[in-house]
Amino acid sequence: MPHITRIGVMTSGGDSPGMNAAIRAVVRTAIFSGLDVFGIFRGYEGLIDNQIEQMYSHSVSNIIQRGGTILKTARSKRFLEYDGRLKAYNNLRENKIDALVAIGGNGTFTGAAIFDNEFDFPVIGLPGTIDNDLYGTDATIGYDTALNTVVEAADKIRDTASSHDRLFFIEVMGRDAGFIALRSGISCGAEFILVPETITYIDNITRLLKHDWRKSKTSGIVIVAEGDDMGGAYDIARMVKEKLPHIETRVTILGHIQRGGSPTSFDRVLASSLGYYAVNGLLEGHRGEMAGIINKEVVYTPFDQAIKHHKDINKELLEMSRILAL
Ligand code: F6P
Repeated sequence: MPHITRIGVMTSGGDSPGMNAAIRAVVRTAIFSGLDVFGIFRGYEGLIDNQIEQMYSHSVSNIIQRGGTILKTARSKRFLEYDGRLKAYNNLRENKIDALVAIGGNGTFTGAAIFDNEFDFPVIGLPGTIDNDLYGTDATIGYDTALNTVVEAADKIRDTASSHDRLFFIEVMGRDAGFIALRSGISCGAEFILVPETITYIDNITRLLKHDWRKSKTSGIVIVAEGDDMGGAYDIARMVKEKLPHIETRVTILGHIQRGGSPTSFDRVLASSLGYYAVNGLLEGHRGEMAGIINKEVVYTPFDQAIKHHKDINKELLEMSRILAL
């Protein structure tokens, strides 16, 4: 087991609310354990460019409630190349850093797994993404806050949809996963929830709408995950409108509003716990793994499994949402 005295912490990929709480937990747990801790700015990009600064307990004061990430973040193309990774490794050596805590999602862990193997350098991951698409944890840091952001927006849209007798198509994030769409859709009583994990049949939607519209409903909400197989909210709205021209439709893309904001209590506790477990995990010899929480227990899952084993969407919940929306 390598002797660890100095660790680095970074955030990488898309930001998510709660990343700051995770950084705070990593820094303070490390200091409590007698380690020196270094912040790496702008993810792998900053690692390649040696944007590394020592952090102290006061460096993370007053950040637990803030969205975004004080360490900044980036998606790094250079880290995909061996030359970029070699520069990153040399910078870690130069700063005498023995291990790394990487907070991010799929892309972050793909890079971390290669790096750990290539340079025999211990990396541990924390799941930081609003998408909740990582295997090995019940929830990712930021997912709960993003859900609440969507629900707040959808409730407001529901008011105006109802006043004007309109059908709204609300597009939420989730390039490859429908977790945000599913839970936010159930929470706001959406008439339809469209996710990448299931085939979307436009005919099913229009058939039900033909039956319900003006009989039991005069307005409605369709939640569309951006990665749906039939396209985004604009595409779906156009296809529905072609078949049902009498229904007045509108489209709202919630976009990056879902990535910001003060984290919920759930995300703050999750991020704090995972930051603590990540540092303790490293000291116990865990590496090449992501710290997650399943059924209230900490679990360390190898990076390749966290990325490749697709966490299944709950199809029963999807079915339930259809019944409840009738
Ligand atoms: O954070 C994950 C995610 O929000 C995806 O759902 C989305 O497709 C993507 O990031 C967009 O990120 P960016 O605009 O930063 O490339």
